Amino acid sequence: MPVVLTSRTGSGSVLRHTYGAVGSETDLQRRGLINGVLLDPYKARVLLRLLAATGARREDVAATFDQHGRERSCCRPGSEAPCPKQTGHLRWACEVPCLRSFCDVLFKTIPEWVGSMGMKHVAVVGVGAVGGVVAAGLASTGRTKVTACVRSPLGGLRIDWPEGMTQEASVFEEFDPAQVSAVEWVVLATKAHQTAAVAPWLDRLCGAGTRVVVLQNGVEHLERVAPLAGAARVLPAVVEIGAESLRRGHVRLFDRPRITVPEDDDGAEFAALCRGSGITVALTGDFVTASWMKLCLNVANGAVTALTMRRMPVFAQPGIAELGRALVEEARQVAVASGACLSEDLPDQILARLRAMPAESGSSVLWDRLAGRALEYDARNGAVVRAGARLGIPTPYNETVTALLAAVSGPDDVT
Ligand SMILES: NC(=O)c1ccc[n+]([C@@H]2O[C@H](COP(=O)([O-])OP(=O)(O)OC[C@H]3O[C@@H](n4cnc5c(N)ncnc54)[C@H](OP(=O)(O)O)[C@@H]3O)[C@@H](O)[C@H]2O)c1
Repeated sequence: MPVVLTSRTGSGSVLRHTYGAVGSETDLQRRGLINGVLLDPYKARVLLRLLAATGARREDVAATFDQHGRERSCCRPGSEAPCPKQTGHLRWACEVPCLRSFCDVLFKTIPEWVGSMGMKHVAVVGVGAVGGVVAAGLASTGRTKVTACVRSPLGGLRIDWPEGMTQEASVFEEFDPAQVSAVEWVVLATKAHQTAAVAPWLDRLCGAGTRVVVLQNGVEHLERVAPLAGAARVLPAVVEIGAESLRRGHVRLFDRPRITVPEDDDGAEFAALCRGSGITVALTGDFVTASWMKLCLNVANGAVTALTMRRMPVFAQPGIAELGRALVEEARQVAVASGACLSEDLPDQILARLRAMPAESGSSVLWDRLAGRALEYDARNGAVVRAGARLGIPTPYNETVTALLAAVSGPDDVT
């Protein structure tokens, strides 16, 4: 029976002839183990299973690992075009003629395989800055199959962490909602105003056992997403992931990522899902306060940086600081009337926090303004105006910046 030697370290090849003691790689290979080269245990298991299904002999297994474990080239030899279905290490499987047909089997049967391996299937809808960080983190746990539901190829994910570490991850990519079916978890990380456009993905991905975690700013997660999620349960989240998309699939993180979810069964399962991903998941018994607290920050930072087209140091200007305080104070009053527990000195606290942020940090609204895209203002300042109107609390500053942001917002996405 062929046995393959692999390693769970994050990168690099399994050693061949470095150590010679009993139990070393040299010893294990002498006893017949096949070197898995660059493949981690999960990928090696898929390849070994495919080879076993072809009836490959031990020599064939060894030769395949030796040849293809080293390569990461496209599955279409001689073609520059990336494979439309497979990314990362799985591409080479299609290069072996006897395996090509098994790749089709693989992609048809992979949901059952994932289940049989005790893995969770997670679909990420909205693989930009936040979605990219979460997709890469979940893929790196080795306990999840991550499918990126995207409009154009990603070609893998690369996350630059603040400490200088670079994380690279491969995920499956799907471009057509008709090709997916219900999964255990959907991570929804589009901008709030892009939610309606991903309804076809949610329609296919959501089943009775599905949970949709909404990684979007604002306080209206349930109202926005539940009508599109069918029988799935929706888990709102407060996202503290300071991240900027540098280019497609390449994200720069400004600080360590943190997500806060309600302290219930779904929240606890999401925390378990993220264990080992590098993303801290906190559970809170007072999600109303947590989400309004974040919105109070966002009504100032997003609107001001986007309207001025300046990064965080803009809050050092006294007039801008006053505007920031006024926006936060209105949101705070609406929040308190909505049941949040927020102290009167919150505007000062938030201004101090914004001023202490690294000079290069900004907001996702600023990144979108700089790129000429549609702006996420309605789920932020617009939400404060809506709730204020419902509760009879005037919100003139937020109304004004909502109108200004609407005027400078780029065109809606064409899907
Ligand atoms: N970035 C941050 O620092 C940060 C921090 C905290 C919270 N948040 C919040 O997190 C949420 C996500 O923000 P983000 O900065 O990650 O946004 P982002 O970088 O713009 O990513 C959004 C992604 O959604 C994708 N998308 C949009 N419409 C789609 C469609 N119809 N089908 C498939 N994909 C679609 C976009 O795909 P394309 O690439 O094809 O356009 C893009 O990759 C927002 O609510 C934001 O306020 C962001």
